[in-house]
Amino acid sequence: MKIYFAPLEGITTYIFRNAFSGIYGQVDKFFAPFISPSEKCPITPRERKDITPENNPGINLVPQILTCRSEYFIEAAKELHAMSYNEVNLNLGCPSGTVCAKGKGAGFLPETLALQRFLDDIYSYSVSDDMKISVKTRLGYYNPDEFYDLVDIFNNFPVSELIVHPRIRSDFYKGEPRKEYFAYALEHSKIPLVYNGNIFNCKDYDNLLSEFGSGPDPVMTGRGLISDPSLADKLKGLTTETDFAKFRRLHDTVYHAYQETMSPDINVLYKMRELWSYWQILFDGCERDFKRLMKAKKYEEYEDILNRILQTKEE
Ligand SMILES: Cc1cc2nc3c(=O)[nH]c(=O)nc-3n(C[C@H](O)[C@H](O)[C@H](O)COP(=O)(O)O)c2cc1C
Repeated sequence: MKIYFAPLEGITTYIFRNAFSGIYGQVDKFFAPFISPSEKCPITPRERKDITPENNPGINLVPQILTCRSEYFIEAAKELHAMSYNEVNLNLGCPSGTVCAKGKGAGFLPETLALQRFLDDIYSYSVSDDMKISVKTRLGYYNPDEFYDLVDIFNNFPVSELIVHPRIRSDFYKGEPRKEYFAYALEHSKIPLVYNGNIFNCKDYDNLLSEFGSGPDPVMTGRGLISDPSLADKLKGLTTETDFAKFRRLHDTVYHAYQETMSPDINVLYKMRELWSYWQILFDGCERDFKRLMKAKKYEEYEDILNRILQTKEE
């Protein structure tokens, strides 16, 4: 079974990816948060820093592009090819208001004619430059039934993998994924499929197994892998427990790496707070400490509270 780490903007940065992949070995592919090319600049220096192979040693990384302009996509893809990438991913799922208003991400899905022209262009490029292009999509913008046409459209192109997050734009990341539409894709898609959405534990994966009769394989998980970094080990049957020694190493590696690249304290602590909003569920009974941890403004204060929380998991 293959496991892909979903892109989470602001969270799965190169710093996090390096820390994670050095400690947990079971993720087969990482997807980088989107880059958003413009006319002047296919890849900004900040985006470049995150995806450059020098900052991602030994990580099987797929950069992702968010745009509805094929010429911008192709310029960015060419630069990524020059950096030695041979796969890029197209984002057709981002539900953010500003992104969709510009016709990008999930906002591109209802524009089926423009989408087909765009796919014509980028897959002509893909063949000429020997660059694989995978797609990460939602079911539609307004209505999940848009997915039927989308599957037909994607089937006309050499999409290397189709990652389906079975929600529509207005679902954002809430509620149950509409799994019956993934079942439809299993029957009708000619493209290798990847399931994405709400895999937080082994039971969630087992439910998918019973829903679809087999697989799905590969699966992509984002929030589940952040919340419990041992999840890939668990899904692959290598362990049943969350390893808190590894968790501590992950925490410390990320924390120290952010300290080396960011200042002042509070900016590093904002990054850590974002991670703790996912990690909290690993630590029952620490609610009062978490409230204080989330308000800490200095490293010393943060580390005091952190040690108290982590001690609850030490034998
Ligand atoms: C904070 C956050 C940032 C995200 N950033 C991206 C992104 O840059 N590109 C993308 O394709 N999806 C992005 N997503 C969506 C995730 O990749 C994934 O599809 C979604 O979280 C559902 O999977 P999960 O239930 O396993 O987390 C983001 C989601 C969240 C919550």
